[in-house]
Amino acid sequence: MLEQLAQDIKAVFAEADRLIAAAKTVDELRQAEGRLTGKQGTLGKLLAAIGKLPADQRSPAGSQINQAKKDIAERFAAARAALAQAADRHAAAVAQAFDPTLPGQVVPRGSVHPVTAVQWEVEDILSRLGFIVAAGPEMETDYYNFEALNIPALHPARDMQDTFWLTNGRLLRTHTSPCQVRAMERLGPPLRVIAPGRCFRYETEDASHANTFFQLEGLMIDREISIANLIAVMKLILNEIFHRDVKIRLRPGFFPFVEPGFELDMSCEICGGTGCPTCKRTGWVEILPCGMVHPNVLRFGRIDPREYTGFAFGLGLTRLAMMKYGVHDIRALNSGDLRAIVRPEQRGGPAIIAKD
Ligand code: DAH
Repeated sequence: MLEQLAQDIKAVFAEADRLIAAAKTVDELRQAEGRLTGKQGTLGKLLAAIGKLPADQRSPAGSQINQAKKDIAERFAAARAALAQAADRHAAAVAQAFDPTLPGQVVPRGSVHPVTAVQWEVEDILSRLGFIVAAGPEMETDYYNFEALNIPALHPARDMQDTFWLTNGRLLRTHTSPCQVRAMERLGPPLRVIAPGRCFRYETEDASHANTFFQLEGLMIDREISIANLIAVMKLILNEIFHRDVKIRLRPGFFPFVEPGFELDMSCEICGGTGCPTCKRTGWVEILPCGMVHPNVLRFGRIDPREYTGFAFGLGLTRLAMMKYGVHDIRALNSGDLRAIVRPEQRGGPAIIAKD
């Protein structure tokens, strides 16, 4: 009888090994173990059958069965531990896994200031027409800022531009026009040049005036340049910047360095031309003063006015940025207020409202 029992126990071990190999989860292992070692399980039944054995065999049979139960419990415990470890390793691997199909992390980055953005656009547009980009100093001499632009000392036109004079006798340039004569001296005719830059005026600030602002000077000099060329280039700049036919008006304007001189206004983009604080309630914004270069200025630039003519313009870059990006108040552009200086493409919200 004991041999039979030994065979039965061997079969139970074989069954245990098969079940362990087949189990995929810790739960499956627990159930399988119960089926072998529980009261209703195979070993339980063997134990229950001990009573039918001859008296002298009961004790060794009991200890064999109990030993088997212990061994099987150990095998299952080891299998459970191995399975749990494998599950942990799998979870860790999943957590660390690199999924190349996931979108990358968005790293917040700074963006170009609206004034710089329109400056680059205008540079692109005019480079296509053969203009080169030049620069001049922000600290200027009286000569380039005024004299050479046909504004002699004591001339009333000096009052048009409230100037920050420096203690060294120089000044903070009130416009980018000094770059005109510098360019003529350097390059000679014919020439097409633009000069973007920062300008300064000793002004009372309001929604459309700041003491620091940006202009982009333009100068084209060649034989037989006419007002028609001037207007064509001015319209091209605005239409390209706004991607449509912009409504403009041309009025006579006085600037000592051009003759004739014009004020070129565009319909206010902020109010659609109905009038608002930004356009001083006129519906129009002075954006592109321009004109035919005055013969005196050509002479200052060592160019013969009998041979050459030219046009010049002083695009208000800061105002252009306000119109293009819907910034109501010029002060916001210099303020670091992110609602104004983050361009709408990146801002996704309304522009700043004027404090009137
Ligand atoms: N420099 C002038 C200003 O700031 C603007 C200007 C007017 C520039 C006419 C020009 C021009 O080149 O032709 O008020």
